[in-house]
Amino acid sequence: MKQPKRYLITAALPYANGLKHIGHLAGAYLPADIYVRYLRAQKRDVVFVCGSDEHGTAIPIQATKEGTTAQAIIDKYHPIIEQNFNDLGISFDIYHRTSSPIHHETASEFFTALNNKGDLITKESEQYYDEQSQSFLADRYIKGTCPNCGFQAAYGDQCESCGKSLSPDELINPVSTLSGNTPVKKLTKHWYLPLDRHEDFLRKWIIEEHGNDWRSTVVGQCKSWIDGGLQPRAVTRDLDWGVALPNDVEDGKGKVLYVWFDAPIGYISATKQWALNTGKDWKPYWEDQDTKLIHFIGKDNIVFHCIIFPVMLQLHGNILPTNVPANEFMNLEGDKMSTSRNWKLEMEDYINDFIKPENGGSQLADTLRYYLTAIAPESKDSEFTWKGFQDANNSELVSIFGNFINRALVLMHKLCNGKVPPLHNELLDELDHATIEAIQQSKQKVEQLLEDYKFRDAQFEVINLARIGNQYMQKKEPWILAKQLESNPAAQQLINNCLHICLQLTANLAILSNPFLPFTAKKICYLLKVVDKILDWENAGSMKLLSVGYSLRAPELLFRKIEDEEITNQIEKLKAAAVNKEPIVTTINTNNTQSAAIADTTSVATTESTDKSPVKPEIVFDDFAKIDLKVGTIVAAEKVEKADKLLKLQLDLGFETRTIVSGIAMHFAPADIVGKQVTVVCNLAPRKMRGIESNGMILMAEDANGKLHFINPEDQINPGSGVS
Ligand code: MF3
Ligand code: ZN
Repeated sequence: MKQPKRYLITAALPYANGLKHIGHLAGAYLPADIYVRYLRAQKRDVVFVCGSDEHGTAIPIQATKEGTTAQAIIDKYHPIIEQNFNDLGISFDIYHRTSSPIHHETASEFFTALNNKGDLITKESEQYYDEQSQSFLADRYIKGTCPNCGFQAAYGDQCESCGKSLSPDELINPVSTLSGNTPVKKLTKHWYLPLDRHEDFLRKWIIEEHGNDWRSTVVGQCKSWIDGGLQPRAVTRDLDWGVALPNDVEDGKGKVLYVWFDAPIGYISATKQWALNTGKDWKPYWEDQDTKLIHFIGKDNIVFHCIIFPVMLQLHGNILPTNVPANEFMNLEGDKMSTSRNWKLEMEDYINDFIKPENGGSQLADTLRYYLTAIAPESKDSEFTWKGFQDANNSELVSIFGNFINRALVLMHKLCNGKVPPLHNELLDELDHATIEAIQQSKQKVEQLLEDYKFRDAQFEVINLARIGNQYMQKKEPWILAKQLESNPAAQQLINNCLHICLQLTANLAILSNPFLPFTAKKICYLLKVVDKILDWENAGSMKLLSVGYSLRAPELLFRKIEDEEITNQIEKLKAAAVNKEPIVTTINTNNTQSAAIADTTSVATTESTDKSPVKPEIVFDDFAKIDLKVGTIVAAEKVEKADKLLKLQLDLGFETRTIVSGIAMHFAPADIVGKQVTVVCNLAPRKMRGIESNGMILMAEDANGKLHFINPEDQINPGSGVS
């Protein structure tokens, strides 16, 4: 296969609106880094660009949440995310920012170029406008009732309860989140990229040209987009945060580029900045056909990188991506990873718990890299479990990889005076030859798999070579030969052969593992007293990496064991931090057959109060309507004897007063809550707790600190008022 002249590797620009989790890492950054490290070891001309995506409504929305400005948000998260990547060995050539002047310039020029060529169209349409704040409302700034499931706090672009994509027009009773007012419709002009003009090009390029070499998940998603009919996509927004439309654009005032128009151009501006920093020319990377452009992304970004951005690139006269090896998603301990539900493992947390020098240092960066690659969601969703993480470390990295290298070094110090022993060719047997052969084959396999973006399989081959090494040593038993030195004249030579092969194999492991486990590869070089130059890929497969008579360092462990306790702690931490982790009321009585229903109704309340509910399986409005919710006033409260958690409440519901037993005694003193209003599930089947019949349930929201809050009307209203 002919090599391209140069490579440009991109990894999706993460939004600088919060910390990133290991799902992000596994999806884009880690595979990209493995590929890049391999290319560098091959001495190919490669540039690896990434950076912060600092526009879009995600940033000002986070600013509102944190009570600060959009600028403060990006200035806070950009450096932390950059440092986290660095700590995990992600080796970008540049980690740029889309807030930089060079990016604004590049994106703005890109827009102008397309606009001047007539590649964009404009349309006027009516959009929601908030008269009080005098601004058009981006989709995320409008909330209303979901037409699909009746959830009352659905966003203008999506309902977080049922997951359906929405447009603001579909919301029932829309309100502006800026002012709380009902927005009005107002005419506004926007620029669109008419994708429909490019259907033929896309079909030919994706399906005919790349239908066989791109991942089938990627081609499949593109095909269904194209088959679904391509529509013009708006590339501008009425917003005050983003890349402003160029001054000379008529009616462009107050408008910015849509974030998905400007962000991928960030790859180009990052390349420009890299070129400025290094004195290189950026142009060939984006204009010369002999460049291989590869986008590493997660599956939620496919349409932008395979359809929209390529159309933009094509129109602008740039090269197109050669491949877009998108990953599926990685779940965590049986559930989807989610920032809003706090069900995740942030890179930052992993770094604090495992990588800080006192906790194990960089070798544990490699452990995470190893496990994430071993379970990479290349063809389907996969799952991170702490147990799996521990197993991968303890039974593969420690027991196979680390153990082999350690034994080889220990034995050479013991049986060969700490020097690389010579090879006695005349004594090589079949097993020796097979092992030497395996080293060479390993190189071929890893290389081919990496070229095909099969990182999971490639890494498997590396660990497999260590496994072969272990088996080889086990069969040769140099420690037994050592006992025969007097009786068997060839014993020392046989020991020499075994350890010579094991040590050359170790050096090969350093080269082959380097893309995956860069910290470990470096450490092996240190132990072997060789310079990093040995890691050049062309050295792989060689049996002459270490010269005979060369003295090596005393062995040090490459990996440490991960203890059960560490794993239990992590699982507990995950569960404790999760939002809506346990339905509050079910803890009263775990035999309770109605716990599912109770859990559901609890989360209806939390959803509305915090927007942080997990998205449960879809229900229809009728399911929701079956639950009778009313406002009640607590008129009496007392502790239930011999039950720490229970309070017996008397609730005035207007038409009657009833008894409800609630598991909130640890949170509220009876005297403090009399007179308070609460939301009551009135039609829950009665059940007995500690001999008292409870007729209903009160709704509670639990905050991040585990504190409970009543769900009640802003002002006192008549008890018995319906809630819907
Ligand atoms: N910020 C986007 C996300 O996290 C990814 C942007 S990729 C780019 O989903 F190509 F637009 F840069
Ligand atoms: Zn919905």
